[in-house]
Amino acid sequence: MSDKLIKISELHNNDYIFMEVLSDLCGVNNVSYNHYLSIILQKSENYLKGFFKGNEYKKFIKKILYIYSIKERNDIVKEFQKNYYDFVKEIEQKKYKFNSILNNFISDEGCTKKMIWGDCYDVLKQMKSESIHCMVTSPPYYNARRYSQWKNMGEYFKDMKKIIKQCYRVLGNHRVFVFNVGDIFGNDNLHTTSIWGNRRLPLGAYFIQLFEKVGFTFVDDIIWDKGEVQSERHKNGNRPYPFYQYPMNCYEHILIFHKHRLDVTRYPCPVCGTLNVNGNSYTKKGLKSWECKNIDCFKRSKSNRGKRFSAKIYNTQSVNKNKGSEIDKDFIYLWRRDIKKITPVIKINCKGENVVGHTAPFPPEIPEFAVKMFSYKGEKVLDPFSGVGTSLKIASELDRVGIGIEKDLSIKDSVYKFVGKYSFDEFDL
Ligand SMILES: C[S@@+](CC[C@H](N)C(=O)[O-])C[C@H]1O[C@@H](n2cnc3c(N)ncnc32)[C@H](O)[C@@H]1O
Repeated sequence: MSDKLIKISELHNNDYIFMEVLSDLCGVNNVSYNHYLSIILQKSENYLKGFFKGNEYKKFIKKILYIYSIKERNDIVKEFQKNYYDFVKEIEQKKYKFNSILNNFISDEGCTKKMIWGDCYDVLKQMKSESIHCMVTSPPYYNARRYSQWKNMGEYFKDMKKIIKQCYRVLGNHRVFVFNVGDIFGNDNLHTTSIWGNRRLPLGAYFIQLFEKVGFTFVDDIIWDKGEVQSERHKNGNRPYPFYQYPMNCYEHILIFHKHRLDVTRYPCPVCGTLNVNGNSYTKKGLKSWECKNIDCFKRSKSNRGKRFSAKIYNTQSVNKNKGSEIDKDFIYLWRRDIKKITPVIKINCKGENVVGHTAPFPPEIPEFAVKMFSYKGEKVLDPFSGVGTSLKIASELDRVGIGIEKDLSIKDSVYKFVGKYSFDEFDL
């Protein structure tokens, strides 16, 4: 018998199986039986072996072996949690066929400003599931600009639904999509195409319904107060008689949606790190929670109940939290009201020229709000209708990775100018 086997055979029975894996895979025969990772693995073994298929269990053990070099129990738990979370996610992501060249471009850490040229539906369809941490955008407002030409509003929302469905798939679970849209004055072209069909088209309200149909949870609507309107419409059409009612355009919506896909994967207790947990509850919206059943856990309530935690908290706080992402108190104060005054971007100079190179850029305050409030440093922020690139510029300035998708190739020069030609990577689909 070799030394290796003697050592393993000396171990407690419960340790045998994962120790066998360690020895088998990596020639590791001197890990401590008392190391806290061994304890987590012993207590979680039954679940892990049932949950992982084929050689996934061995692969997982191999991936976390380095944790044996860590001494502090809390750090061991954190590393185990993070590795487990990432590993489970990778297994999930492999179920969807994605374009690996595109995804390598997105995940390459060499550049923090990335532009993808193409129709966002085609691009999103080829992206990895749950690979983006935060989304912020402003879509085309139906037929409000030259780049929009839908036959009617039904056709417009059909296209938007396809895109939002893909956004749902690509956004990380329990993460946030900040969606800026304004109601517009126009004709939905569903009943009449004449001037009599003109009215306020409440795009904000319609988008809320659409997002909810796709699976998102509508959480908030912050009104962007744009200040005085420039058009004369509001002055009763300049007619001093009743019944002249023209909608104005002095506010837009900043809609906040959450993704809560019901994920029944068991997650380790954030205190003891074991998978000795039971489902606690979940709602139809997909917020699943867990309760630790490990009687040796370091945090039990007075009535001897284990720690309760949710996959949402797990994803948005415990696993991904990193230093340096704290939000300035002054910034939070600026957004303390749900009506927020922001001056629209001045596009036209005194000579009547468009100095931005886009007819509808949103103010940097909107992506700044989304990025600071709903992502951590180093995470990926995507704008699927990126226009001149405001979101990716801001995300990168805030130490995130900004990714934009835009289909109008004629604005390339404006994007180069705005984002800085030599400082971003681009990809043509
Ligand atoms: C309201 S603008 C966004 C402006 C942007 N927030 C900015 O600050 O410049 C909408 C943009 O979406 C682009 N767009 C429209 N449909 C698209 C699609 N299917 N895929 C990608 N981009 C699209 C338009 O060309 C336009 O630039």
